[in-house]
Amino acid sequence: MIDLTGKRALVTGAAGGIGGAVVARLRDAGGTVTGTDRTASDGHHSIPGDLTDSAFCDSLPERAREVMGGLDILVNNAGIITRGPITDATDDDFARSMAINVEAPFRLCRAAIPIMAEAGGGAIVNVASCWGVHPGPNHPIYVMSKAAIASLTQCLGMDHAHQNIRVNAVCPNEVNTPMLRTGFSARGIDPDTAIDTLNASVPLGRIAEPEDIADVILFLASDQARYLCGALIEANGGKPVQ
Ligand SMILES: NC(=O)c1ccc[n+]([C@@H]2O[C@H](COP(=O)([O-])OP(=O)(O)OC[C@H]3O[C@@H](n4cnc5c(N)ncnc54)[C@H](O)[C@@H]3O)[C@@H](O)[C@H]2O)c1
Repeated sequence: MIDLTGKRALVTGAAGGIGGAVVARLRDAGGTVTGTDRTASDGHHSIPGDLTDSAFCDSLPERAREVMGGLDILVNNAGIITRGPITDATDDDFARSMAINVEAPFRLCRAAIPIMAEAGGGAIVNVASCWGVHPGPNHPIYVMSKAAIASLTQCLGMDHAHQNIRVNAVCPNEVNTPMLRTGFSARGIDPDTAIDTLNASVPLGRIAEPEDIADVILFLASDQARYLCGALIEANGGKPVQ
């Protein structure tokens, strides 16, 4: 049984599919959680803001520390997906994806690590993607952004272990969240029908639900993962990237 009593966590993308499940899991385990998203995600310790705002990112860990009286866990979960080949990509597609998927976690880690180090340690969990370790077709901007966060995880996992700060990532394949569903809707495909088809492509028989990923994040954030530093945990139901 994972016990986060006394632990204080900051979770980005808290209003999203995986983020909402992470907030619930961390709180169920006894943790105190500050969620952040573009709008207030719930009534508890919510700090709304836009992660493309560099000043917001730079100040967020300290604000969360003030609100909760400390900061032991950071979950870099917020992300966006830009679809299509590079020849369809705009400058804005590139800039937004890099700002939200890469620069925001960079800024949040940079600001959170000294706070954690001063307190004797902490845990950072990044949400990368299986596509960050095995590139898939026709999503080059998303794939490179997730490769960057996977690499950042491995680098920081090495660099900050000596401060008792563990940095790890979960790398999901498809998860049943608004990110996946709105992608189908935008292409004129019924999400439920598309997910039935996707379920049949997974050896375990179904794509992930947000809670399947939140449980991995909960583990990585907890002392049960005390010897993991820089690990990229693939959560894919047995389905390779195709
Ligand atoms: N759903 C999948 O199939 C899947 C697979 C692999 C990895 N992931 C990753 O999981 C993470 C969570 O995705 P999800 O599926 O829950 O998607 P989601 O769209 O449900 O949630 C993402 C959240 O991030 C927030 N966000 C986006 N841009 C923001 C900004 N500029 N400022 C503040 N918040 C912002 C959104 O408001 C949203 O609540 C992402 O990093 C995603 O890349 C998802």
